[in-house]
Amino acid sequence: MPLPIRIAPSILAADYANLGQEVRDVVAAGADWIHLDIMDGHFVPNISFGPDVIKSLRPHTKAYFDCHLMIAPADPYLEAFAKAGCDSITVHAEAGPHLDRSVQAIRALGKKAGVSINPATPESVLDYLLDKIDLVLVMTVNPGFGGQKFIPAMEEKIRRIKTMIGDRPIDIQVDGGIALDTIALPASAGANVFVAGSAIFSSGHVDAYRKTIDTLRSNAEGGRR
Ligand code: DX5
Ligand code: ZN
Repeated sequence: MPLPIRIAPSILAADYANLGQEVRDVVAAGADWIHLDIMDGHFVPNISFGPDVIKSLRPHTKAYFDCHLMIAPADPYLEAFAKAGCDSITVHAEAGPHLDRSVQAIRALGKKAGVSINPATPESVLDYLLDKIDLVLVMTVNPGFGGQKFIPAMEEKIRRIKTMIGDRPIDIQVDGGIALDTIALPASAGANVFVAGSAIFSSGHVDAYRKTIDTLRSNAEGGRR
């Protein structure tokens, strides 16, 4: 039984001057998760926001907070993001030498544990983690910025990860360049959670958010058939 399709808007592309309203709007427009892109200007060449922003957003919605840590090191900050109200915390395989310890620490905090891999990172990095994680995030751009072009070559990696996972309850999430015209390919390959930033927030209005989320969902379903 395939895992449910989830649309996870990334607030990296939202109006930061109006962030609480943007989160309420995109949830009202049908978002399943809120994707929180944390960037430190070291692991990636951009800086976004930290746990205090998440803490201030938490009371505004019951939506699932999906935290994507593009930071190195990640371990010293896991507890702060857990306390801020994240439901899942995803660390990059490339962010440090002790990935097994990081995912164990996330679960010990009572959160779902995810591992993200950059476009050049082979899926074999997941070999000894499949029974310790809840989500794999396949980057479909080189992380750091929204609005980049989807890398179609990631389709093969998603297919291979789908095979590796077998019937384990592990979400396959894709992030980067996911839009109306690109979402069907990763969906056909086995992805079920789709991060979209600019594709959703560029319209700037809640009615357009709903239309985009609905179309993303139906295009992903179409990709599965
Ligand atoms: C890393 C970020 C972005 C963002 C999605 O760069 O993770 O990929 O979420 O940005 P869009 O959907 O605008 O490509
Ligand atoms: Zn992300």
